[in-house]
Amino acid sequence: MSESASGNIRIRSADSVRGTVRVPGDKSIGHRALLLSAVADGDTTIHGLPTGHDVISTMSVLSGLGVGIDGDPNAGVCVRGRGFSSLQAPSSALNCGNSGTTMRLMMGLLAGRPFAATLCSDGSLSRRPMARISTPLAHMGAQFELVDGTYPPVKVVGGSLTGMTYQTPVASAQIKSAVLIAGLQASGMTTVIESSLSRDHTERMLAEMGVVVERQDLATSVTASPLRALGRYEVPGDISSAAFLLTAALLLPDSAITIEGVGFNATRLGFWEIVHGMGAQIHADTTESRGEPIATIQALSSSLQPFDLRGSQLVRAIDEVPILAVLATQASGRSVIADAAELRVKESDRIATTAAMLRGLGAAVQETADGLVIDGPTPLNPGVIECHNDHRIALAGAIAGLIARGDGWTELKGGGCAAVSYPGFFDDVMALSGAVVEEYSS
Ligand code: S3P
Repeated sequence: MSESASGNIRIRSADSVRGTVRVPGDKSIGHRALLLSAVADGDTTIHGLPTGHDVISTMSVLSGLGVGIDGDPNAGVCVRGRGFSSLQAPSSALNCGNSGTTMRLMMGLLAGRPFAATLCSDGSLSRRPMARISTPLAHMGAQFELVDGTYPPVKVVGGSLTGMTYQTPVASAQIKSAVLIAGLQASGMTTVIESSLSRDHTERMLAEMGVVVERQDLATSVTASPLRALGRYEVPGDISSAAFLLTAALLLPDSAITIEGVGFNATRLGFWEIVHGMGAQIHADTTESRGEPIATIQALSSSLQPFDLRGSQLVRAIDEVPILAVLATQASGRSVIADAAELRVKESDRIATTAAMLRGLGAAVQETADGLVIDGPTPLNPGVIECHNDHRIALAGAIAGLIARGDGWTELKGGGCAAVSYPGFFDDVMALSGAVVEEYSS
């Protein structure tokens, strides 16, 4: 199925899911492998990059800065890194598409380059806050122009940077990574202190590239350093994508799936911790590759208890809230998600869009200022879901449609955006479940 990014998709329910699958490469790790390889000293060939639109945006922004990139994500991408100083002033605005990670990490990279560049975006990214990145980088010495002081397009005028200690206002890997990437180009030491530990892929990859990264509790520090090229690098599967298929296996009867080669970094395991606490039959065999833990995960049909997700655990499950909410509708009791106000500034207002998605299928969901309260178990009925150009709503909505009872279609309006993080998702769902999935025009 070659779903188009803006297309509508409809899905029928399934009896079970069974089989073995690999999910696309981890989006966070893919962005970092491209961006850091572009300023390393030497060539890197990256395999297993996700083919979704966001990572393509990072590739095209790097090309616009004069970085040599050949190949394509399906076959392997060769990045010809020639150090930070090889980046060139772009001749036009650099389009980050819908990718917040591309824009925010690029701001950190460009902060230390001696030229001006403009980062632009499409629809929903234009409404996402960027002052959280420009504020610390401006303290280090870069200059910025943003719409209303915070929205894209972002003009960066880079320059000489001075290291600093920065306490982030929200636990965010994008803020931490942008400041650390600027710190690699600054004089003195740059330290980022977080309130809870966000995903640490940047730090792990920098250590693989020969940078001394110091971590003390929630403080991470770097000093200016050249980067050794990774050579050959394989991106592990994305646990945030795996979470959708694992949920289908936990919720449908007579189900058993195995997902191979999934990144199993402890800072990404909020979903895993929660489903364990719910009593899920789920198991992981782990190994490690290039500084990142990797697992083969098996999940079986399970009866589930409700959960309470908040605080530092919410940070480890920041991208899994829509699918955890689907799980909550089938748990026996009240589940609570709190401290999740950050979700209001993701690709959509994910608290509102998750609540609307599930309510439309018959779930008992209340929206709070910073989360959701969900009473289960409630059978879900097929229905209509507005995806709001948010891939994680499309993916969670598809799983909700798969477990819905009854013969009707669940319609995912704009469901083609699932391909932002999981190209091939609907093919995998059809292969594992036998469910009917098709594009339709409204
Ligand atoms: C990401 C960090 C998270 C996450 C996003 C990817 C990253 O965002 O939600 O999907 O790759 O650094 P925040 O850092 O804004 O929480």
